Amino acid sequence: MEKIIVNGPGRLSGTVEINGMKNSALGILFGCILVEGPCIIENLPGIKDVTLCLDILAAMGASITRLNDTSIEIDTQNVRGGTSPDELVRKMRASYYLVGAELGRFGCARVGLPGGCDFGVRPIDQHIKAFQALGTVVDTSGDEIVCRAPNGLHGANMFFDVVTVGGTMNLMLAAVLAEGTTVIENAAREPHIVDLANFLGSCGAEISGAGTDTIKIKGVSRLHGCTYAIAPDMIEAGTYMIVAAATGGELRINNVIPKHLESITSKLEEMGVQIEELDDALIVRREQPLKPIKLKTRPYPGFPTDMQPQIAVLLCMAGGKSEIIEGVYENRFRYTEELRRMGADIAVDGNVATINGPTEFHQARVRAVDLRAGAAMIIAALAACGRTEIEDIYHIERGYDDIVGKLSAVGADIRRVVIPDVD
Ligand code: EPU
Repeated sequence: MEKIIVNGPGRLSGTVEINGMKNSALGILFGCILVEGPCIIENLPGIKDVTLCLDILAAMGASITRLNDTSIEIDTQNVRGGTSPDELVRKMRASYYLVGAELGRFGCARVGLPGGCDFGVRPIDQHIKAFQALGTVVDTSGDEIVCRAPNGLHGANMFFDVVTVGGTMNLMLAAVLAEGTTVIENAAREPHIVDLANFLGSCGAEISGAGTDTIKIKGVSRLHGCTYAIAPDMIEAGTYMIVAAATGGELRINNVIPKHLESITSKLEEMGVQIEELDDALIVRREQPLKPIKLKTRPYPGFPTDMQPQIAVLLCMAGGKSEIIEGVYENRFRYTEELRRMGADIAVDGNVATINGPTEFHQARVRAVDLRAGAAMIIAALAACGRTEIEDIYHIERGYDDIVGKLSAVGADIRRVVIPDVD
């Protein structure tokens, strides 16, 4: 078993480099299936979800060459549709992008149902509705998604009933090679969407409006290879902003797009955290006591649900009553039970968490119940007195590139240990 052990509290200072964005990297890598000729993808984060995605593509016949720690060359010419291994596909959410990519390339798709973090029910009805709009017959009666477009894919108008990142990206993948024009309304506006659109555009796709709620895709007959660098990960950057605020230190966070972080910056400033914006870096420090606030998670440009557990830790440290409304998922508060073990006073009622602070976190043995929850445990452990042990860290490693190394380098007493299993 692997664990992360943190001895806190620690006042951190120094510089952290942000890697490429997990959620666009996965869409872009699967999107390479649509491309004729090799692509060079740069600024890939060193995370388990990327490794898994590359393993899936390799198993399907892609030829992948590692150029350096953060770049690969990928050629999908020999990929066979419908051959993604179910046991790998079920380990991550983003494997649903295979459906859009296979449909676009082969006019049919077969993919096992995706896995991912457990936030309650996570339907894919909007993805299915989008594929149907393009002329696809979809069957999800087994434990896989099977699609075929008997008359080819045809551009269509699609109005999403909910704002969905995955649905928007999947429809973009399916539509770029379809005949005619597709218009996506009520599209997600996350930076991941823009990153995928920029990648596809570099390969010759005709996409306009990405980053707004209306995206127009004019189908083209082929996509060609390109060299593309993934944009920086706003959630990784936001996580380190909260690390700086929670430990009362000062971090310079490099390789960020400050605009992507505006909702996080604004909430942290409301809490009394000082943030200096540079062109592609932020300096974050906290010198005064934290103030309680209210917040609601929403699709971009609102406060991201993927930062909700991390900011909850900071709200526990603020004196007074704070409130978080989870506006995206049905149940993203499972981690609060773990924070309570460290002394947090959090009550959850439906999609509302009420937090009474200030909490002085104390040492405990806790679990990373999902990816961002795991980041929250590390933040609480950095602020806590004593030795905190975090289990189930594979969730954290799915989405954070070398978090232990990066935190050690700015002064944290943190290590990853492997404990032999005892029968
Ligand atoms: N939804 C539907 N029907 C659909 C699709 C979504 O009802 O067909 C609902 C979901 O149940 C949810 C809401 O719409 O309540 C938003 O879901 P969305 O489709 O936007 O989420 P996702 O594409 O499954 C991606 C990220 C998540 C991130 C969300 C929201 C990937 C691989 N995952 O998920 O990332 O929370 O967008 O920004 O891109 C993470 O990185 O920790 C993570 C969970």
